[in-house]
Amino acid sequence: MSESSAEWPAVGLTLRVDGHEYPVPQVWIGDSLLAVLRERLDLDEPRDGCGVGECGACLVTLDGRPAAACLIPAVAAADRDVRTPQDAAFEIARDAVADAGASPCGFCAPALTVAITDLLRRTADPGPAAIREALAGIVCRCAESGRWIEAVARAKEAGIEDAGARPGPGDSGEMPMLVFEAGEPA
Ligand code: FES
Ligand code: FES
Repeated sequence: MSESSAEWPAVGLTLRVDGHEYPVPQVWIGDSLLAVLRERLDLDEPRDGCGVGECGACLVTLDGRPAAACLIPAVAAADRDVRTPQDAAFEIARDAVADAGASPCGFCAPALTVAITDLLRRTADPGPAAIREALAGIVCRCAESGRWIEAVARAKEAGIEDAGARPGPGDSGEMPMLVFEAGEPA
């Protein structure tokens, strides 16, 4: 990272996204990871919903932990492992969401794929209450929760827990669901 302007502080950084390295010049230090992924790297996913950490639409994983990309400064994600919903590791959940009709308008499908994958890596056989709790951070206007439960069942049946699992928060038992990470990483 190198500072380029004191008046309009910007830095050059390298993002590791879905296993690829992207040098990104002139990133304003206030830019969120979500803004850089969508506007600088031209990615359609994660989605841009509320922009303030309330809707869950912008879910990605950061070093294996689900996180709201709109709350993470891009500079805080530099040189860390960022996975978007388009990453191959989420393919099983993506198919399950589609097959279950769990995202009628399509807007929440990316966040659901990330959240369902994380849930099933942490919990082998979650019941309906655990599923609702795990997905509660995704504010959706058009899906029925029954479809979400079916999507989880389909993903589980397809063997998602074996699909390229990376260490997640649940592996240490410390984090029950979505992590809305703000500011510099610990
Ligand atoms: S866009 Fe709504 S939580 Fe990030
Ligand atoms: S799938 Fe349509 S708003 Fe959530």
